[in-house]
Amino acid sequence: MISSKLPNVGTTIFTTMSQLAAQVGAINLSQGFPDFDGPQALRDAVAYHVANGHNQYPPMTGLPALREQVGHKLARFYGVTVDTEREITITPGATQAIFCAIQAVIRPGDEVIVFDPTYDSYEPSVALAGGRCVHVPLAPATFAIDWQRLSDAIGPRTRMIMLNSPHNPSGAVFSGADLDQLAALIGERDIYVVSDEVYEHLIYDGVAHASVLACEALYRRAFVVSSFGKTYHVTGWKTGYVVAPPALTAELRKVHQFVSFCGVTPIQWALADFMAAHPEHLDELPGFYQAKRDLFCDLLQGSRFRFTRTPGTYFQLVDYAQIRPDLNDVDMSLWMTKEHGVACIPVSVFYNEPVREQRLVRLCFAKREETLREAAAKLCAI
Ligand SMILES: Cc1ncc(COP(=O)(O)O)c(C=O)c1O
Repeated sequence: MISSKLPNVGTTIFTTMSQLAAQVGAINLSQGFPDFDGPQALRDAVAYHVANGHNQYPPMTGLPALREQVGHKLARFYGVTVDTEREITITPGATQAIFCAIQAVIRPGDEVIVFDPTYDSYEPSVALAGGRCVHVPLAPATFAIDWQRLSDAIGPRTRMIMLNSPHNPSGAVFSGADLDQLAALIGERDIYVVSDEVYEHLIYDGVAHASVLACEALYRRAFVVSSFGKTYHVTGWKTGYVVAPPALTAELRKVHQFVSFCGVTPIQWALADFMAAHPEHLDELPGFYQAKRDLFCDLLQGSRFRFTRTPGTYFQLVDYAQIRPDLNDVDMSLWMTKEHGVACIPVSVFYNEPVREQRLVRLCFAKREETLREAAAKLCAI
């Protein structure tokens, strides 16, 4: 018998729901990926670089041209200057960056604070490093940080705090004041921060993303992670980056070089070309997704679901208490998928201890207009 290092890990709900959606022919609003392609010029650029000899290993740290483009972007959006040689690392996806950051600094017995609901990759990554997650629930309705609970959770073993803003699954966004308050709470304690900012450009209603990069007191102890997959509608390319002060970057790279060594060469070339030629993509992204959010939410006004428009990410939470209060959210998601043809994700799976009375499911609106209209019509009929 194998003694599993991750005994509590099975097939994720995302795989399960996507498989079920395909099986029963439901519209898949469960897993977080677009049903449309990334920009044509970006896809053409990959083909060009594959055809033109960019197919061998790139530098372990990432292609210099791409790191430079990321550096320009960080200056433009967050007003920071980072050393692109010593502070930026390109990784095969944000997930791998997060994994490497955790392996780089967490030792057996260390505690890592995660806010519930929380993205599913954090806990197994901490467990593999020998650490333990301490779950601090966000406020039930607003998904804001409960500062008292956070303060109570910090102890002598706390070695890391995981942040995620804009937040999956709730869409909540942290403000600059939240980051300052966190920095004050950490003070001089020996605590690292991983800031998962993969939805940094999916933020709406004119609000600017508060990046940990722009908060000096946090950045000196932080790994800030993002994903080209989310930003350029190419989640299957699994390409991301991590920005961290030189000493932390050096430790992260010791792990990264033996997990994957590097990212995919032609994709890095293509992203570098596209970022240089089309900086406007980033400026247009909030408007692009806000239009989808608003279309979807306007259509859902005619349903019996209750919701407040999400301030960030491409996920909309909806409350189904008026429809099937008798069902827990896993059963509700199965019922919606099988009986009503729309697949979603139950929010309880993001919790260590689900909130018993909560009746929320997550819908992904990174979809073509016709998909959203068709899904909304089905949701309005429930
Ligand atoms: C909060 C969060 N972090 C990380 C990721 C993964 O990003 P990547 O595909 O670049 O590994 C996702 C993807 O859904 C996510 O929602």
